[in-house]
Amino acid sequence: MTTYPVNAFTAPKGTYDLTPPDSATFLAVREALAAPLRRSGYGYIETPGFEHVELFSRGVGESTDIVTKEMYTLTTKGGTELALRPEGTASVLRAALERNLHKAGNLPVKLWYSGSYYRYERPQAGRYRHFSQVGAEAIGAEDPALDAELIILAVDAYRSLGLRDFRLLLNSLGDKECRPAYREALQGFLRGLDLDEETRRRIEINPLRVLDDKREAVRKQLVGAPALRDHLCEACKVYHERVRQLLTAAGVVFEDDEKLVRGLDYYTRTTFEFIHDGLGSQSAVGGGGRYDGLSEMIGGPALPSVGWALGVDRTVLALRAEGVELELPAATEVYAVPLGDAARDVLFDLVTALRRAGVAADFAFGGKGLKNAMKSANRSGARFALVAGERDLAEGVVQLKDLESGDQTPVALDAVVEELRARRG
Ligand code: HAM
Repeated sequence: MTTYPVNAFTAPKGTYDLTPPDSATFLAVREALAAPLRRSGYGYIETPGFEHVELFSRGVGESTDIVTKEMYTLTTKGGTELALRPEGTASVLRAALERNLHKAGNLPVKLWYSGSYYRYERPQAGRYRHFSQVGAEAIGAEDPALDAELIILAVDAYRSLGLRDFRLLLNSLGDKECRPAYREALQGFLRGLDLDEETRRRIEINPLRVLDDKREAVRKQLVGAPALRDHLCEACKVYHERVRQLLTAAGVVFEDDEKLVRGLDYYTRTTFEFIHDGLGSQSAVGGGGRYDGLSEMIGGPALPSVGWALGVDRTVLALRAEGVELELPAATEVYAVPLGDAARDVLFDLVTALRRAGVAADFAFGGKGLKNAMKSANRSGARFALVAGERDLAEGVVQLKDLESGDQTPVALDAVVEELRARRG
């Protein structure tokens, strides 16, 4: 007999199950985050849950935590090295290149996605090993209006949900013209600090990431570090100023944050993050930026691009932190309660007819008694119950009960569907 460890039957560490009724909120959040994209020319894309490891090590960056520590990797029986996707941008760009979407003569290629991502992180509130993002990528255009468009759409998505306490942090990371000189200046400064081995190594591979160090002892030493702002080339300055102007014109408030470097290596120029102040340490509800060099890094042509991903799990937590209750339509509008076998068949047919007519209906399965069945009707959130016993059937009617007011009226069997369609308005 096979024996299993006890925890084989619990969700793995850092994951959680989404079950009703909370799952309805999650779904509504996912839909609300995507809605502004769908009315702004973004087409839906779905890519596999896993990719070749190399796509992420090259794309996201060999020196990032995501690649060095957090990837779930596996070797297939055939010897292929795969990784569960830790993020969506590299995959979406890979798919766009592979399908030649950029050659269809319609740049930018605007795509949106929604799905599961996996990072082997230390789990805590708001940080999971399996989490959900809604993302957008606009591939193949260098235009500050495109950066602004994406940021505005994210702000509109959060606002549509009723979120208020979020802040937008904005920065420019420069480009291949100006970043190398800044990198050198920063390295010169960092090499003079008192830092541990790993951080010293990081200075050589990706010094900008050191600016992102959250440890107090390191932060103190970073005061006075050369600022990228002072090293931006003219083109980057003009570009960034234009993004800022467009955001301001759209009524989007932002904070300039020159320490914002993000945890992925592909960014150039515009970077941004949405922070929610009710979330504790895992406060980033979304983030993104421009990645003009990523296509070439993964073997494609030059395709300047920009995108973002918003965390669905953290957006749900942010809503909770603000006490926002989404108004969700009841999943069930009508609940049928049969009394006796003959009524079962008649009401079951009626429920099918209602569903086919577009009315969300459910049925008291399992031969429940009246009391229990009415409890289920109330729990279902339905506004109406249809109750019928033998006497009703003999008269060719069912009782239509308004569960809010308690009013009950007999309705002819063949008029029920019409009556309910009319009543729900
Ligand atoms: P990211 O900042 O790594 O960016 O992730 C985006 C959002 O996903 C975060 O702000 C957060 O809300 C959520 N998230 C990330 N990790 C976790 C986790 N372990 N648990 C819960 N939520 C998490 C990207 O992924 C980029 N691909 C965004 C992008 C798109 N840049 C350009 N295009």
